[in-house]
Amino acid sequence: MKSLLLLLFVWFLFLIFIPRQTQGIKFLVSCGFNSTSYADSRKWASDSIPNDNFTLSDPGIPAFNSTSVEDTDYTGFGSLYRSARLFNTSASYNFTLDPGNYCVRLHFYPFQFGIFNSNDSAFDVSTNDLKLVTKFNISEEISWRAEKTNSNVTSIVKEYYINVDLKGLQIKFVPNPSSFAFINAIEILPSPNNLFNSNITKVGSNGLATITDRAIETMYRLNIGGPKLKSTTDQFLYRNWDSDENFMFSINAATEVHNTSAISYVTQNYSSIAPLLVYETARVMGNTEVVEKRFNVSWRFFVDPNFDYLIRLHFCELTYNKPNQRIFKIFINNKTAAENYDVYVRAGGINKAYFEDYFDILPQQTDTLWLQLGPDSLLSGPGTDALLNGLEIFKLSKNGNLAHVLDWTSLNGKLHSHDNSKTRLLIEQICIGMACLLMLMLLSGGYCLYVKGKKKSKMAEDAPPGWHPLVLHEAMKSTSNARPHNQVVKNFFSTPSINNRMGRKFTLSEIKGATKNFDESTVIGTGGFGKVYRGEIDGGSNIVAVKRADPLCGQGLKEFETEIEMLSKLRHRHLVSLIGYCEEQGEMILVYEFMTNGTLRNHLYGSPPPANVLSYKQRVEVCVGAARGLHYLHTGSEVGIIHRDVKTTNILLDEEFVAKMSDFGLSRAGPTLDQTHVSTAVKGSFGYLDPEYFRRQQLSQKSDVYSFGVVLFEVLCGRPVIDPSLPKDQINLAEWALRWQRQRSIETIVDPRLEGDYSVESLKKFAEIAEKCLMDDGKNRPSMGEVLWQLEYALQLHDAYIRERESFRSTGELPFGDGALSLTRIREDE
Ligand SMILES: *[C@@H]1O[C@H](CO)[C@@H](O)[C@H](O)[C@H]1NC(C)=O
Ligand SMILES: *[C@@H]1O[C@H](CO)[C@@H](O)[C@H](O)[C@H]1NC(C)=O
Ligand SMILES: *[C@@H]1O[C@H](CO)[C@@H](O)[C@H](O)[C@H]1NC(C)=O
Ligand SMILES: *[C@@H]1O[C@H](CO)[C@@H](O)[C@H](O)[C@H]1NC(C)=O
Ligand SMILES: *[C@@H]1O[C@H](CO)[C@@H](O)[C@H](O)[C@H]1NC(C)=O
Ligand SMILES: *[C@@H]1O[C@H](CO)[C@@H](O)[C@H](O)[C@H]1NC(C)=O
Ligand SMILES: *[C@@H]1O[C@H](CO)[C@@H](O)[C@H](O)[C@H]1NC(C)=O
Ligand SMILES: *[C@@H]1O[C@H](CO)[C@@H](O)[C@H](O)[C@H]1NC(C)=O
Ligand SMILES: *[C@@H]1O[C@H](CO)[C@@H](O)[C@H](O)[C@H]1NC(C)=O
Ligand SMILES: *[C@@H]1O[C@H](CO)[C@@H](O)[C@H](O)[C@H]1NC(C)=O
Ligand SMILES: *[C@@H]1O[C@H](CO)[C@@H](O)[C@H](O)[C@H]1NC(C)=O
Ligand SMILES: *[C@@H]1O[C@H](CO)[C@@H](O)[C@H](O)[C@H]1NC(C)=O
Repeated sequence: MKSLLLLLFVWFLFLIFIPRQTQGIKFLVSCGFNSTSYADSRKWASDSIPNDNFTLSDPGIPAFNSTSVEDTDYTGFGSLYRSARLFNTSASYNFTLDPGNYCVRLHFYPFQFGIFNSNDSAFDVSTNDLKLVTKFNISEEISWRAEKTNSNVTSIVKEYYINVDLKGLQIKFVPNPSSFAFINAIEILPSPNNLFNSNITKVGSNGLATITDRAIETMYRLNIGGPKLKSTTDQFLYRNWDSDENFMFSINAATEVHNTSAISYVTQNYSSIAPLLVYETARVMGNTEVVEKRFNVSWRFFVDPNFDYLIRLHFCELTYNKPNQRIFKIFINNKTAAENYDVYVRAGGINKAYFEDYFDILPQQTDTLWLQLGPDSLLSGPGTDALLNGLEIFKLSKNGNLAHVLDWTSLNGKLHSHDNSKTRLLIEQICIGMACLLMLMLLSGGYCLYVKGKKKSKMAEDAPPGWHPLVLHEAMKSTSNARPHNQVVKNFFSTPSINNRMGRKFTLSEIKGATKNFDESTVIGTGGFGKVYRGEIDGGSNIVAVKRADPLCGQGLKEFETEIEMLSKLRHRHLVSLIGYCEEQGEMILVYEFMTNGTLRNHLYGSPPPANVLSYKQRVEVCVGAARGLHYLHTGSEVGIIHRDVKTTNILLDEEFVAKMSDFGLSRAGPTLDQTHVSTAVKGSFGYLDPEYFRRQQLSQKSDVYSFGVVLFEVLCGRPVIDPSLPKDQINLAEWALRWQRQRSIETIVDPRLEGDYSVESLKKFAEIAEKCLMDDGKNRPSMGEVLWQLEYALQLHDAYIRERESFRSTGELPFGDGALSLTRIREDE
């Protein structure tokens, strides 16, 4: 009797406990390996050893290569990636699981096993009723990721969150015709039920999106403002967290903060959402580069078009112990996701970790997802700041599909649809443009030009009449008293007499004192609307540039006013700062920070020839700076501003050769959201003018991109954009350089003074950017932001080259076979 009871009791226990046990079951499978292995501090079962818990429908071909594997992305998986199982027919793993939510990871690593090379493999993977990948080609996948994340990628780990029903989980590999499939490892972990909420806030509307029956693929997982976090730091799901640097639009737009003390979850059931380590670091806007914090902190991600995304933001206030210290807006894909966002208030205190989810639909044709955090009010002041600790981007399945085909061929086709007639077109446009300009000159600028008695030859340079290059200064040694500009600017703005929006108001007598009553000896340049003087103010302790409207040339007054209006709204490290103005006795005078090193052009060529040749690195840095300034103009304010006169004489250099954009006299507010351009009469500088702008008289930010492309070639070649003294086919720099670039022999025309000073890879990249900027069709040109991004990459390539060259010099060892950089993961376009 007793034993019967005991038996019943045991049976009862069995009923209760067995399911519980299997519920927590996890599978770590090392594929194609003949015994148990250890990787990532975990034990991985071999799929060659029979196991009650999963079956394999076809043994396929186990493959093992004892060469040790270096895996920089997922360190710790090296031993798993030495083996794989290959399938030349459809095959599936069937896992016996209890119904529930699971995290499934598939590991793929490129290999050579005897006659099998992963480059010959292409296949589809699906689960019971869900397509995970189609036409998977690991080599393409790796190049895509490397390019889009600007990092080294050695393996591909696909992570999914899948709901499993009574049937269990089947993972099916289907090779594409005359190809094979492979898999290195499979990870299946039970996923906490509260990991995803069923209803998610939609971006840009008040509605909720229900995602209960959608499968999820992880696209990005970032520890913002902190280091990479390895899977072993996550006791629940062994998730990897990457650092966010490579995704930040402009790394200078934010600074890192951290606090490792006493962080806790808002509610304890959040503990599986993300490890506390993620919340210990963050980025905030607090930024010395931007005087007024209007600039958004932006991250950009390449994702698959035509899917829905779940964007998860992790927050934890680390610094302030009261509300209203950081109030910001959250933008996703340029739509407002949240306003008036105060992390302290939402979390109910400091050091409290929580997250916020948003749902957004990415349309066809769009492969980028933007996240931006920006100030909530246009006025700077306490509270104008933003914070982010972690970020996850998940793709949601659509009609049982998560697969996206990387379509390289069509992508390449789109990017490189140069036609041969293009050069002819360009010439035609330039001819038309020349005619337009001549007319313009006669109609408007001519008078002004005449009054000033300018020589006609001046026009042959790069400035159309009426818009002379504003040369703020020729190269000159800095005066001993001159302080770094940032400090100067700060001082000016902290003077009590400032007018918040316009800067400091000067009296006419102050200005006269500063410029020795507008003495000719202090003239440092001539702008379209008058002269520019060097002035000493505050008893000679500060040097400024004083721009005085020429009363004779009333035509410029409109531009002058525009410039005050523009400049007073804009503050950025890479824009020349307006310090103040003077409006007395009919005078209109603007006072700017003084740029010790004058124009970029003066450092490239001209007479007298520049004393010091800018190095390749300096040139790229200057371009990065200018690009940053322009990008700020384009995106830093609600309207977006088009510069309209981007050229090397409008890029000024301070004493540390930091580039700043100047002369917004021609600037104009950009198109609003529902327009893509503004119609306007053609203005700008000859040689830099966007052919599309000529043709259609429609201005867009892409016109600035075109001009900037010309600047890039000018910087690279060190010659004027129009040089009539040269043979006919070389007169126009843009045309000439493009011809060489298309033949991929840009080295031939690089400024000879740069010989031996540059990395070939970096040069290639640089010229490629310039080429893209000069695309005929504005639509095909990159945005200024992308240009900036790519230029930064070119700079990194150069830096890496210099480092390797140095180490070669010190060790005598050539790091790579033929001296080529291994770092260059950029896919070769041709
Ligand atoms: C597993 O494979 C390795 C490499 O092929 C071999 O050296 C080893 O003996 C095998 N072990 C078993 C248990 O078959
Ligand atoms: C199958 O799963 C059960 C339950 O978790 C476990 O006890 C058992 O060891 C597994 N079998 C094998 C061969 O791994
Ligand atoms: C695996 O599962 C699928 C569906 O769940 C089933 O059709 C198939 O027969 C199973 N294969 C094996 C080998 O158990
Ligand atoms: C698949 O591979 C096996 C083992 O190498 C071989 O015997 C079989 O003929 C192959 N099947 C096909 C369709 O290539
Ligand atoms: C696959 O091809 C790419 C480029 O074609 C090459 O870089 C890579 O080394 C190849 N992979 C293997 C495993 O051979
Ligand atoms: C193992 O991999 C290395 C490097 O990928 C390759 O050079 C070698 O040929 C491979 N060995 C075999 C037996 O396939
Ligand atoms: C995979 O991509 C690589 C690199 O683009 C290519 O060389 C290879 O032929 C592709 N493999 C298949 C099977 O399509
Ligand atoms: C890529 O790897 C190389 C060698 O490990 C390293 O020097 C380089 O910094 C890496 N590049 C990036 C962008 O991570
Ligand atoms: C966490 O627990 C609280 C109660 O402590 C509950 O209201 C909330 O719904 C839970 N959240 C999740 C995501 O499970
Ligand atoms: C989600 O929304 C649906 C209706 O849209 C509602 O029926 C359901 O209760 C909501 N679920 C939760 C967990 O709020
Ligand atoms: C970190 O948090 C603790 C506890 O809230 C606080 O006392 C401390 O000041 C913070 N440290 C920093 C550097 O902000
Ligand atoms: C969002 O803004 C960025 C930068 O201004 C632009 O490149 C991108 O195309 C915009 N995205 C959408 C979805 O409108």
